This record gives sequence, structure tokens and C-alpha cells, in this order.
Amino acid sequence: MSTTVNKIKHPIAENMEIFEDKFRDSMKSTVPLLDKITNYIVKRKGKQIRPMFVFLSAKCLGEINDSTYRAAALIELLHTATLVHDDVVDDSNERRGFFSVNALWKNKIAVLIGDFLLSKGLLLSLDNDDFELLKVVSHAVKEMSEGELLQIEKARRLDISEEIYFDIITKKTATLVAACCACGAVSVGADKKMVSTFKEFGTLTGIAFQIKDDLFDFGTDELIGKPTGIDIKEKKMTLPLIYALNNSTWQEKRKIINIIKNHNNESEEVKKVINFVIAKGGLEYANKVMNVYKDKALAMLADVPASSSKESLEALIKYSIQRKK
Ligand code: IPE
Ligand code: IPE
Ligand code: MG
Ligand code: MG
Repeated sequence: MSTTVNKIKHPIAENMEIFEDKFRDSMKSTVPLLDKITNYIVKRKGKQIRPMFVFLSAKCLGEINDSTYRAAALIELLHTATLVHDDVVDDSNERRGFFSVNALWKNKIAVLIGDFLLSKGLLLSLDNDDFELLKVVSHAVKEMSEGELLQIEKARRLDISEEIYFDIITKKTATLVAACCACGAVSVGADKKMVSTFKEFGTLTGIAFQIKDDLFDFGTDELIGKPTGIDIKEKKMTLPLIYALNNSTWQEKRKIINIIKNHNNESEEVKKVINFVIAKGGLEYANKVMNVYKDKALAMLADVPASSSKESLEALIKYSIQRKK
């Protein structure tokens, strides 16, 4: 793991270690096939950025406790469930540098695995009467589904404005990051005002995080551990492309839309769209917007008392937009 991440994790290093054990346990099942697949998933863990947001938010404001751990586990379970489903929806065969669950076990099983992980998360909270936590996170899951569906609807019609793009990414990604920060704060008994500050901080961070993810898709770097060029293939119009289209002639626009509509499975044609976006400055524009959100997020933390956890939280948002995967 990179030194940057280790530095960020420093104030919560021990918590993250304990978390990993708890997280693994939270997925256990007596059904052999389920156990095999959840083992596969745990072995190829992601960046665990969401649990880091939970723990750092909590530690900025108080003492990490059992409910902080449960919040982190619930959110990472739901996140994992959505990724398993998302790869079915996006027809993607690679995740975290390895085959996705649908690539290895097919869609049928991937759908059920996602449902299993989701229900394990809900049960973990129910068993502990974490109703406040359940409320926030269930809302985030609802928003995620709505965001993904809105995206599909827009992909069919190929009409998407920046405003709708932000609505989609707020729903599908930022709400869960907001839940991380809010639940972290709630778990240490923060007051209402502070909880809403952390929630807003998470929303802004989540938006920047998804813009970064969408930028990855225009790259060629294999390090990210998932396919690139897949958004255009799936007719997903993200910020760099929306900007490029808004800054072209109607002839250019017609040509590009035609490729996305009718030639989205031809890699040479997809490359043309990517080159068009680059030539129009779409990547620079998205980078600029991403940085605006990062700065807005950082500004939210102005009244949070100084501590090593706060420094890490600030570093974590910077990492969210500078990361290599
Ligand atoms: C991927 O999230 C899905 C998005 C919201 C872009 P991450 O990039 O946090 O995925 P992992 O958990 O590190 O694999
Ligand atoms: C994020 O969007 C999806 C979720 C919120 C589950 P993407 O479809 O772009 O995520 P990746 O790129 O597959 O990780
Ligand atoms: Mg996807
Ligand atoms: Mg993506």
C-alpha cells in the first residue's frame, strides 16, 4: 500500500485492522458456495475508503466505539453489494484487478450475492438496534438505486445536462460517502449541527470522488483494476463528455452521438469519442470542477477542532482526487 494511504490511516491504523476482522466475519455463511464467493471478495479488498471516512469522522469528534465499527461494516457491506450488482448492470468483467463476480459465476449468482451482502448489512444493524444508522444508510441505498436507474434512463435517451449528471452522481455515490461521515459523527454522539456539517462534507467529497472515477474511464491506465472506455460503451455520459458536447458544433455533436448510439461496441469508434473529449478540453474541465468540490469540502471542516484525525480527513479528500486507482 502506498505511503500516502498509510499516513492517512495512521490515527486509525489499529481500528482499521480490527475492522477487517469484523468485516470478514460479517459476511460468513453456512452455505458453501456463498462462503467461497464471499471469501473471494474479501481477499480482493478495495481501497476501503468508506470505512476510513467513518473512522476519521468519528475520531475527529470523539472516541471510536462499537457502533462506529458497525457503521463502517454496514456501509462497506452495502458498498460491496452495489459493486457486485453494478458489474452486472454495466456488464463489466473486471473489478479490483481481478475477475468480477459476474465474470466468474455469472449474473444469476452475482445478483444473489449482492442481495445476500445487503441483507447481512441490514441484519447486523437490526441485531444491535442501530435504527438511526439504518435510517441514514437505507436512504443512501434507495438513492443509489435511483441514481443508477436515472443513469440508465438518460443513457437510453442520450440527453443529459450537467445538472442531471450531478444529480446522478450525488445519488449513486455521494450519498453513501455522506452517510459514512454522518454516521461516524453520530456514533460518537456529535450534536445535530456537527452531524449535518459532516454529511455535507461527505456529499461534496463524494461528488469529487465520482468525477475522478469518471475521469479514469477516459484513461488507459491498467493500474485502476477495472476496464476503461466502459462508460461510453454503456452510453453513460459523464462530465468530460457532456462538456465536450456542449462546446461543439451541431455537426460534431451529431457525429459523436451517432457513435455512442450505434457504434458503442466498436473500440475504434469509442476511441474517437475519447479523442474528441480530450481535444475539447473535457478532461481539464472535469478536473477543474473536481477541485472546486474538493475545496468546498475542505472548507466545511473549518470549525472542526485541529487534530491528527482532522489532518488525515483532509488528506483523504485530497487522495480521493489524486488517487491512481
Ligand atoms: C467504486 O468505488 C464505485 C464508485 C462509487 C466509483 P471505489 O473506488 O471506492 O471501489 P473500491 O471499494 O476501492 O474497489
Ligand atoms: C458507480 O459508478 C457505481 C456505484 C455507485 C455502485 P460506476 O459504474 O462508474 O462505478 P465503477 O467504475 O464500475 O466502479
Ligand atoms: Mg460500473
Ligand atoms: Mg466508473
